[in-house]
Amino acid sequence: MPRIGDAAPEFTAISTQGTINFPQDYQGSWVILFSHPADFTPVCTSEFMTFASIEEKLAEVNTKLVGLSIDGLYSHIAWLRTIKEKVTFNGMSNVEVKFPLIEDITMEVASKYGMIQPGESSTKAVRAVFFIDPKGMIRTILYYPLSVGRNFDEIYRTVVALQTADAFSIATPADWRPGSDVIVPTAGSCGVAKARMDGDEGEMTCHDWFFCTKKLDEAEVWKAIKKN
Ligand code: BEZ
Repeated sequence: MPRIGDAAPEFTAISTQGTINFPQDYQGSWVILFSHPADFTPVCTSEFMTFASIEEKLAEVNTKLVGLSIDGLYSHIAWLRTIKEKVTFNGMSNVEVKFPLIEDITMEVASKYGMIQPGESSTKAVRAVFFIDPKGMIRTILYYPLSVGRNFDEIYRTVVALQTADAFSIATPADWRPGSDVIVPTAGSCGVAKARMDGDEGEMTCHDWFFCTKKLDEAEVWKAIKKN
């Protein structure tokens, strides 16, 4: 099972947008590779419509979506057509899913990514979300069971937090959002620890020597991570 910090396992697969060579085709972009249990099911339908609704916002932060289930290509096509033509959810209708949806009847890709978790189901993928960086490295993994639809604010927040952490060499505290304070790397020497507690290390708030935060303007965050 791949882990955070591993290279994303490679695969070639057929999708609703043609053949994908992963992760080579996505070099230079962040990717959210996610699985869903089955086409023509209600929770998955609500998720697909919501994924489609944030696709543009993700593109602004250089992030692409790739979906997968162990259904076949024609099922995928029929389901996406049904979503567009018939389904209204949360005020969304006429939703066109433009990102690729991989067919994985053999479960080859799902197995490589640990998306089949037999305690939950041995015939359906769980709701996995892999955040993969522009170098093809796995940076975050989320798993949800079949019964719980994902939180899309959290998916978007995670992309933004990962990119912000990279751009500014900081970490983000609990429930961080752009504009809130960020965590500076922990002091690596007694001298720095003392200087921070004495207030000699610049504009920082230290809750203790190992836990110091600083301001990071929301505008600076967006300037660093938004394309154009
Ligand atoms: C759903 O998406 O609604 C779903 C899929 C598989 C099992 C249970 C629910």
